[in-house]
Amino acid sequence: MKWMIASAPWVLAAAISGPALAADNPASMTDAVKTSVFGTLPDGREARLYRFSNAHGVEMAVTNYGGIIVSLRTPDSDGDVDDIVLGFDSLDGYLSRAYQTSNPYFGALIGRYGNRIAGGEFTLDGKTYTLAKNNGPNHLHGGNKGFNQVLWDAKPFSNDTGTGVILSYTSADGEEGYPGKMDVTVTYTLSDQDTLSVEYNATTTKATPVNLTQHSYFNLEGEGSGSILDHRLMINADAFTPVDKTLIPTGEIRPVKGTPFDFREATAIGKRINDDNTQLEYGPGYDHNFVLNRPDGSDGELVLAARVTEPDSGRILEIATTEPGIQFYSGNFLDGTLTGKSGRAYGRRNGFALESQHFPDSPNQKDFPSTILEPGDTYHTRTVYTFSAR
Ligand code: GLA
Repeated sequence: MKWMIASAPWVLAAAISGPALAADNPASMTDAVKTSVFGTLPDGREARLYRFSNAHGVEMAVTNYGGIIVSLRTPDSDGDVDDIVLGFDSLDGYLSRAYQTSNPYFGALIGRYGNRIAGGEFTLDGKTYTLAKNNGPNHLHGGNKGFNQVLWDAKPFSNDTGTGVILSYTSADGEEGYPGKMDVTVTYTLSDQDTLSVEYNATTTKATPVNLTQHSYFNLEGEGSGSILDHRLMINADAFTPVDKTLIPTGEIRPVKGTPFDFREATAIGKRINDDNTQLEYGPGYDHNFVLNRPDGSDGELVLAARVTEPDSGRILEIATTEPGIQFYSGNFLDGTLTGKSGRAYGRRNGFALESQHFPDSPNQKDFPSTILEPGDTYHTRTVYTFSAR
């Protein structure tokens, strides 16, 4: 059964001019979201699980611990439904020591700053701020206890845009070394058009860097089904930001043309991953930010960032974003030590992430688009995932 054909122009049109956003249009039928206890945190607080679905059999589950997408089930080209994101079926999985020591951020919301800040340091308005160095010499994904490890407030909703959950969190002034008290809201909306919209809003009491993203790992054949190297990837980017050996951008914006980073035409992820290339050696593999092509005057609007097709299941994932960049991470650090929901170990490159974002280390890179949020301003970004199969 063919249940939907990919339609990039539709995504953009509907997503840009679409109906009022969920956050503006609060809950009506909350019984569309099934709520249960997901587990208990070490401090005794309860994490909840929110499950909802759409008219075409797309089903998802989100926990308010870390805003983690715990499962995302979509039909393949025969109508068979599989879970296409890596993760665990219990809170303990996300809390376990193995997960903490080799934290892969499965499915989580990332903040205050997605990706790396060089040397765990930045200077803002003449003051130097020191952050945790939790990734070799650098700061990664918000520090020792990023937004992926906090308990968010959650409000389920259902309205004419779709069904989902509004998550909110207040990050204290000085939390993980960042300035300003920051109020953050992230809204997950699953629609009957087979889109998942993730909308981020934040305000702050002091100027602070902010770069929020979602860190789902996908395997479009179904989580636990092995390598993602056969998936075909298109990234709408003429350039990427090369890195040093600690994965900090050098500041260069390098054309992808003639390199293994040219994904402008759909190409199997594995085709060039072992090429003799210094950037791939540093990865090791793909772990790079791509500079998205964006028509003049479209700042803050959704553009198609990436499309991934899996040949056996026929599943297609499209990602559109208001962000200037996307981090393509080919799951290089997965090493088989974590066992996922289906009871199968997640080996190297058994999942990939495409993290819409501002560029890594922007607080220290004067030529990158700014990630500084000022008091009185509102941070607002949006990323839309569209699921189909053919
Ligand atoms: C991001 C980083 C990777 C890795 C993963 C989590 O994608 O760029 O280097 O840290 O998160 O394992």
